[in-house]
Amino acid sequence: MRRRTIQYLVLLFIAAVATHLYFFSPSPQPDPSHSSEWMGESDEGQDSIPKRRLTADVPKRDAVVAAFQYAWSAYERDAMGSDEYHPIRHQGSNMSHSGGIGYTVVDAIDTMLLMGLHEEYSRASEWVRTSLRFDRDGRTQTNFMLYQTTIRVLGGLLSALHLSSDEMYLRHAVDLADRMLPAFDTPSGLPLSSVNLETRVGIPDQWNQAYISTAEATTLQLEFRDLAQLTKNATYWYKAEKVIVNDGSFAQSEIRLGSRGDSYYEYLLKQYLQTDRTEPVYLKMYEDSMQGVHDYLVQKTPTRKHTYIAELIPKGADWKTTWDVQHKQDHLVCFLAGSLMLGATTAGARTPGVVSVPPRMDELSKTGQRDWNTGVDLLEGCMETHRTATGLSPEIVQFQPSVDQPNRDWYIKGSKPGGPAGYDARYMLRPETVESLFIAWRLTGDVQYRTYAWGIFEAIERHSRLPGGGYATIVDVDTVPVKHEDKQETFFLSETLKYLFLTFADGEKLPLDEYAHPLPIFRPSIKPMFTI
Ligand SMILES: *[C@@H]1O[C@H](CO)[C@@H](O)[C@H](O)[C@H]1NC(C)=O
Ligand SMILES: *[C@@H]1O[C@H](CO)[C@@H](O)[C@H](O)[C@H]1NC(C)=O
Repeated sequence: MRRRTIQYLVLLFIAAVATHLYFFSPSPQPDPSHSSEWMGESDEGQDSIPKRRLTADVPKRDAVVAAFQYAWSAYERDAMGSDEYHPIRHQGSNMSHSGGIGYTVVDAIDTMLLMGLHEEYSRASEWVRTSLRFDRDGRTQTNFMLYQTTIRVLGGLLSALHLSSDEMYLRHAVDLADRMLPAFDTPSGLPLSSVNLETRVGIPDQWNQAYISTAEATTLQLEFRDLAQLTKNATYWYKAEKVIVNDGSFAQSEIRLGSRGDSYYEYLLKQYLQTDRTEPVYLKMYEDSMQGVHDYLVQKTPTRKHTYIAELIPKGADWKTTWDVQHKQDHLVCFLAGSLMLGATTAGARTPGVVSVPPRMDELSKTGQRDWNTGVDLLEGCMETHRTATGLSPEIVQFQPSVDQPNRDWYIKGSKPGGPAGYDARYMLRPETVESLFIAWRLTGDVQYRTYAWGIFEAIERHSRLPGGGYATIVDVDTVPVKHEDKQETFFLSETLKYLFLTFADGEKLPLDEYAHPLPIFRPSIKPMFTI
């Protein structure tokens, strides 16, 4: 078991090029017709722990809403309906020449609903009603990546549905999912990495490997399982679940260069929470993975003792048994801080559902305490990487002493403060650190986390906001005034600003015990195919 765990870690962290992960896009009020399925309402008898009310910080919350409106209105003015947005040349672009699939619009809708932006929402939902189409033939350019399309578009539609109860989103979700299902028709059940949505044909990735990595495939399950639950059609559930082999362990040979290891960890926990902790197989996989992370990857810098997560790089021909530790950390890894804290208070609770805010250590199991402490320390380590000229953290840091940067325990490869800068020095408006700050705030009520989040928001306002509208990627976080790259990433609207908003909103918005991922927690009416 241990050896297998090590193998995942190697594979998953190697290419931690990971795209961004996703979690907690919110859904607001439970649909009353499902109310018995809502975890938050089955908590009777646990009122021994008084619920702590976290109140809104109204001026800061509203400043975040104004930033969303500024970013959205520029997109809407210049590029409405396009998948991606280039705010400097005031243009959109699509992933296929045959037209967009609503990447930006669909992904941003749940944030609008959550923020109460009725006018923006009514225009965006009207676009979905009249213009969103999935009969796009990707052959003229690239085909649609199964992973990205699932998390951005299918996930966006499902959270919009849960938030608005507008059945239009379900019809689109079913249409999209049906166009993607053929990609799952492979001997192993592991899906092909891309799909032509018009012809409904799965496409092997030409450059890399034919199949999606197991890590990526696992992250599709939350959306497909939610769709199965909504439609009462088990096909969506089983197709996505077949990715995991019968004994509940991963098909090792299929995990090749597992990028996106980050989302994988998070999804294991979410899988477990999504179905109201009725599937212990996911708990076991999560616990094994976290044990491996602690055994091999958690590190502290020698001087100032900042916590970070190293990578393991295979060495020589026998890469399964020998590897080098690389002391580098992607910004993406900062999601793990919040995920560990959430895992500690759920999977790691001595009595499920009975954990105070902030948690008392005697309420957590031994591994729960370990994960909590690592999460808290890692979040501090991530904040350390914000000690730059802009106050924003770079895409990748090396946790090693450097003569050029004597007062930090880390440096940016190929870069010096003030320039010149390497490629790792960018800040792409990523959400991982603010996502973890949001979770940490909710689980502790410690205002320090709000202070950190506000510092990041102010830095974004100062350095990323463009006078002509929108926000752009920063080329070098260590040089001011900054240079921009012409891209406003979709996840800025759908995640970064959402987590900032939730950090300053009151605690009743998206309670953590009622939502896993963008999707509500439910007790499954469909039985899993495998158990432990
Ligand atoms: C992208 O596709 C959408 C939807 O078909 C369309 O409205 C938009 O104009 C396209 N954008 C570009 C830049 O071609
Ligand atoms: C469930 O969905 C699959 C895929 O779209 C479809 O082929 C099948 O007919 C559906 N089953 C039911 C009972 O609706």
